Amino acid sequence: MNKRTFIGVFDSGVGGLSVLSSCKGLLPSERFLYYADKTHAPYGNKSDDYIKDRVFKIGQMFVDSGAKAIVVACNTATNVGIKLLRQHFKIPFVGLEPAIKPAVAACSNGKIVLFCTRATARQDKLKELITRYDADNIQIVALDSLASIIEKNFYNLENIRTQVYEMLTPYYNASGVILGCTHYVHIKQMFADFYKSQQTKVKTQNIYACQTQILDGNDGAARRLRQLLS
Ligand code: DGL
Repeated sequence: MNKRTFIGVFDSGVGGLSVLSSCKGLLPSERFLYYADKTHAPYGNKSDDYIKDRVFKIGQMFVDSGAKAIVVACNTATNVGIKLLRQHFKIPFVGLEPAIKPAVAACSNGKIVLFCTRATARQDKLKELITRYDADNIQIVALDSLASIIEKNFYNLENIRTQVYEMLTPYYNASGVILGCTHYVHIKQMFADFYKSQQTKVKTQNIYACQTQILDGNDGAARRLRQLLS
């Protein structure tokens, strides 16, 4: 095998580009190769076996082409398949972990909503993480179509604002929001705008009067990658 030269980054589509950007920001002199598994997207409505198969094949492809590390830039693929990758390949893997710890620290007494795909929502790994942080104020909500909507409208994200606001309306009184899918990070500002627009309503009902925190795990993944390569 020739010298391992690059870092492989993958997702089902455009979601992982948000992680790639955080990684490049911290490691500007590294070479990255990005793979969007578009023909098999979305992962969120597939079975665990299907997702594991995709994750394994992509891992194999990167390892065979000389990757020195792999970033699983997708919460769904991380939750379902990173264990399998670590068992089979000897290079380091970095996955996406939902920002539960900072969310709990920032909103100890308010309601926290973790938005993610259906496949992520059913994983024990996620439930174990919530138990580890004793986060009994977290509600897991699977947004079935949001990743696909973002994927389709990636170059015109403003077009989906009304649809996104409708999806978020039932959770308008959250004091903390965790983006548990890397696609959602592309519309983080839209989440922030929605929750800002709800503040008056929330204040009137005396539920919560501070600004809702919107958190994601991208910077954490980038920091972990830098640590593993140092
Ligand atoms: N971007 C992926 C994640 O973070 C999921 C999108 C999909 O359903 O394919 O979970």
